[in-house]
Amino acid sequence: MLYGYEDWPKLSLESFKLGKELNPRSLRVGSIKYDFEPTSVVITGMGGSGIVGDIVRDSLWSYNIIVHKDFNIPKWVDSRSLVIAVSYSGETLETICGALDALKRGIPVVGVTTGGRLASELEGRGAPVVKVPKAIAPRFGLPNLLYAVLGVLSHYLSIPEIDESIKIQEDALKSELPGRLASFVRGHVPMIFVPLGLQAVAYRFKNDLNENAKTPAVVAVVPEADHNDIVAVMLKHPVKYIIIRGRTDDVHDYLMRTVEEVVRSYSSDVEVIELKGSSRLSQEVYGSMLLGLVSIKLAELYGIDPVRTDPINTLKEKIKGISCPSN
Ligand code: F6R
Repeated sequence: MLYGYEDWPKLSLESFKLGKELNPRSLRVGSIKYDFEPTSVVITGMGGSGIVGDIVRDSLWSYNIIVHKDFNIPKWVDSRSLVIAVSYSGETLETICGALDALKRGIPVVGVTTGGRLASELEGRGAPVVKVPKAIAPRFGLPNLLYAVLGVLSHYLSIPEIDESIKIQEDALKSELPGRLASFVRGHVPMIFVPLGLQAVAYRFKNDLNENAKTPAVVAVVPEADHNDIVAVMLKHPVKYIIIRGRTDDVHDYLMRTVEEVVRSYSSDVEVIELKGSSRLSQEVYGSMLLGLVSIKLAELYGIDPVRTDPINTLKEKIKGISCPSN
């Protein structure tokens, strides 16, 4: 079973259209104007919705994109910024608080969700909301949320290579790597090295390993990891090393080759994953899909249900009644 991965190309295209159809530039919510050139874009959301912000930040790295994973948005954000609040369910407290805090402070907010309280709170205040199709669980709805956000942003920023980033998904679907890599990491903690600029792929993989395969994982972002994480290779741990290689620039490419050399000089438990695609967006979408499938295969090897995330539900239930921070 592929948990809807096979529909990603179709959903990506549909969701980009949905995001584009909602042109917030024509809107005004009370005194808040949406027709402006934002000095920054703040993308707020948690977990499977929050990773959308990481992918957008890496992909549109020449813009000022801030990823926010908490309640009220930072104090410095003002009406020259655009806030995009992403919550698959529309019920995530952190994201709802962030969106309402922004609107209260006169900052334009666009919601991206399947519905829930986020949609009703924003719509009740006249703010725009893109409603995306449902998936099996939030993380399986990545194309729905990501491409809807890109559609919205296409009214403000120049978006690269949408077509390539959708076409490349077929390559990830056809790859035989997921089964092989799942057997490689089985029974171990994966330590994932990734170059800065493509780190969202590693974080998405970590999250999928956590949620689908109920497995802890470590992300080591290079160059910072060259100054700390790398030292862990000196001792034998129940760890398998995964090195994600993509194209950002020659220096980071060289650094990743060097990391590989050093890790291999201590351990033979190393696999290198080459990201396909010419833009960062394509590489991140390709990597997210390919490595997501690894986490599904690993869940199968462990004989567990990838969909269940009981501790998340328990935690959400426990915090349900709390109010947004007052600032
Ligand atoms: C569950 C999952 C979680 C959620 C997170 C936020 O499948 O992936 O990481 O994404 O708890 O919930 P939403 O996405 O509904 O705002």
